[in-house]
Amino acid sequence: MKSIGAVAFVSAVLVVAGMDSTPAEELSFDIVPYPQAINAIQGAGFVCTRDTVIRYHAETSRQPAEMLAAALRPATGFTLPVAKGGSIPAGILLTTENADAALGSEGYALRVTSDGIVVRAPNAAGLFYGGQTLRQLLPPEVFRKHQVGGTKWLIPAVEIRDQPRFPWRSFMLDVARNFKTKETVKMLLEQMAIHKMNRFHWHLTDDQGWRIEIKKYPKLTETGARRRDTQIGGWKTPKYTGEPHEGFYTQEDIREIVQFAADRHIMIIPEIGMPGHALAAIAAYPEFRCPEQGIPEVAYTYGKKPYVFNVADEKLYPFISTIIDEVVALFPGNVIHIGGDEVDHRHWKACAKISAMMAREKITTYSDVQVYFTNRLVEMIQKKNRRVMGWNEITGDLVHGSTEQRAERKLSKTAVVQFWKGSSDLLRSAITSGYDCVNSTHSSTYLDYTYGKISVKKAYDFNPIPRGLEVQHHAKVIGSGCQMWGEFIHDDARMEYRMFPRFCAYSEVGWTSPEQKDFEDFKRRLEESHLKRLDYQGIRYAKNVFMHEEHSAEEFADWVKIGEWTKPMMDKEYIFEWDASAVVKSAGRYEVALIFREGKHSLAPLWMELLEDGTPVSRDDHPGYAGNALRNNVYRFELKDFNAGSRYIIRMENCKSGGWKTLGDVRMRLIP
Ligand code: ACM
Repeated sequence: MKSIGAVAFVSAVLVVAGMDSTPAEELSFDIVPYPQAINAIQGAGFVCTRDTVIRYHAETSRQPAEMLAAALRPATGFTLPVAKGGSIPAGILLTTENADAALGSEGYALRVTSDGIVVRAPNAAGLFYGGQTLRQLLPPEVFRKHQVGGTKWLIPAVEIRDQPRFPWRSFMLDVARNFKTKETVKMLLEQMAIHKMNRFHWHLTDDQGWRIEIKKYPKLTETGARRRDTQIGGWKTPKYTGEPHEGFYTQEDIREIVQFAADRHIMIIPEIGMPGHALAAIAAYPEFRCPEQGIPEVAYTYGKKPYVFNVADEKLYPFISTIIDEVVALFPGNVIHIGGDEVDHRHWKACAKISAMMAREKITTYSDVQVYFTNRLVEMIQKKNRRVMGWNEITGDLVHGSTEQRAERKLSKTAVVQFWKGSSDLLRSAITSGYDCVNSTHSSTYLDYTYGKISVKKAYDFNPIPRGLEVQHHAKVIGSGCQMWGEFIHDDARMEYRMFPRFCAYSEVGWTSPEQKDFEDFKRRLEESHLKRLDYQGIRYAKNVFMHEEHSAEEFADWVKIGEWTKPMMDKEYIFEWDASAVVKSAGRYEVALIFREGKHSLAPLWMELLEDGTPVSRDDHPGYAGNALRNNVYRFELKDFNAGSRYIIRMENCKSGGWKTLGDVRMRLIP
């Protein structure tokens, strides 16, 4: 029997099992992200039919009404009429009239009875989110892309009052390392909307590619959007695709995506990285490098590169200003991200112009050189009515173990700091110094990390407000982000595997108040409803992510060693195979364990299979981890029919960005 989420009924709630109502204990509202308050109310709920009218009052409420009608169309097959005016309810009404201002710019109140549905919100964004909640109150099949027959489209009688914990709920997509199509970007924007995220941080440029058309500087895409090869073997490994990689968005593409996002109340934050992570731009316009350096090409290996803009060259600033003008014309949001992370100082140190500028401006550290540069950009970009945002290195506080002092100059207080790396003291210092901060701590929010490093629970439990931060500073943490970095993400299936269901967890990090968060209930909502929604939308999420087994190496001492993984293997392959014929001698259930022996890196399997003469006969699909801990490192198989003449093989796929310095044993047994 389903249970009501433990936190749903903390306040006084009317839960009466009336004659034609669903018994209260069978009701559960499997909404993700979980709302601030849900009260089941007496009654049968509302059944949506092809005659249901979606009404709205003010003209500004028409768009969320039409978006709701469009969202319900594919699975229901209903083309629900959208009409202005009309009284309550006899259908679905979206209105800003008499809305409670305390709900804020994104909050909404929703009431469902057998007579109809009213969504009330001070703003269109709240009406849109109320519509998203309605979709999740319907049977999960409503997320199917094709018409579903025989379903009663019942929305249970309920009252919801909801608003986000944070105003900034971002998802970052790195399209610089590996280009993502317009269709993929739209699919992810749709997922953001379903999960009530409102800031799409678009990482458009980096050392490995420049992906946005700039009409005044065509070489940015002619040269910068193409590289001759791509590293694929994991960090520092010498394996390449052997093929060029290219792609960029035309300004027409970008306008289309900006509109698609705006329809979903998502602001796009374009990231144009500088002065580091700018090699693609420098390859296109090498006059902006430090002149002592050779002329580079667009990087085709990953990891940060030493090329940086020569910020002492006055010609650089009109170049940047022109680019920003085109960016401002494309993106209506009020924030422009300038990157600013991981600036390598080597080229600046060797540069006569930089040395002369430091003497002239009395700048003593290279961190100060970056603050000087960033402050000039803040000023330039403010004149264009936009705010600068950057990774936390823009504060001048070093996070890379450099021997240099932290900067003496102060970053302009109007800049938004996106914290990704460094001690919690560093984060606290940025917040209490008065910067608006977005908390994107890498060890808790990076979607490219393995499930061994960031489990769904770790993602869910992330609190953007650092522990011990005094209440008067809380509002300076404007929210949090989750980041899909794109190194080694060469296809959408792998991207979706890394993203989901952790993305769902991050939606509650940003939206749901700590009092309403409950990991066990989140897990239940996923397992009972939300994973179905993802399935129906064709999202290829990681399976069995809630498994939690910790093991120690001693447990496997008696198992038969069928092979090992070694550093040379890691250099070359993701798919590993070991001969299991020494163990597989009968039908039965088998276990294979991965036991880490030594090295800096872990093995992070995505799945494992038992093959009979090359054909998979049993498969275990879960993310595992064999490193300094052994977590979910046992894979289980069933062999129904044993064939004495056959060859049995164990095959697994390793997570592509797994490091290469790792060594371990593969052991197997027949379960007694
Ligand atoms: C970053 O991950 N370099 C922001």
